[in-house]
Amino acid sequence: MIKERLCVLISGRGSNLLSIIKSCREKDFPAKVKLIVSNNPDAYGLRYAKQYKIPFKVITKNFENTLLKQLQKNNIEILCLAGFMKVLSKNFVDSFFNMILNIHPSLLPKYKGLNTHRRALKNKEKFSGCTVHRVDEKLDSGDIILQSKVKITKNETEASLENKILKKEWALYPRAIKKYCKEIKRYYWKIGGTA
Ligand code: GRF
Repeated sequence: MIKERLCVLISGRGSNLLSIIKSCREKDFPAKVKLIVSNNPDAYGLRYAKQYKIPFKVITKNFENTLLKQLQKNNIEILCLAGFMKVLSKNFVDSFFNMILNIHPSLLPKYKGLNTHRRALKNKEKFSGCTVHRVDEKLDSGDIILQSKVKITKNETEASLENKILKKEWALYPRAIKKYCKEIKRYYWKIGGTA
């Protein structure tokens, strides 16, 4: 089975990175993590790169140009943003043929940006959740690939909602990658290429 080559971008804890690494180790999963990149040298998630012996890079200067070179060098096909706290420029998104995914802790298009749980609670929402979407040049706004919903209970706090949604994220991101890989293959066949 040919597996798509992923790079995961992180800035911090890396719990979504870990769930992606674990899924990619399954025999029938259509992708493999080939590179991990962080813009933060202290990102906790970098220890998963070491633990699973996956090549990683910390890029603190000239971020987009250096990243692009790394992606080309490692033949990366899909870029997954997982808790990556930097907005990528339109130029960068275009140069990587829009093959970029992100996970966001809300039911987009609601609550783009930061403090999603606080805002959902303040607005007395009955449900919240998480979204995996394609990345375009605007913040949290590309095509939606998959969403997962949770119920907001009576005594919900920001912390309890964050925990509940994070657990859903761990299952959602690998499912979305799988779906996206299928879509890419279908597209390649349509345009007469090989995948
Ligand atoms: C997640 O809630 C993700 O949706 C958001 O940032 C958080 C990252 O968590 N974009 P982790 O670093 O994957 O643990």
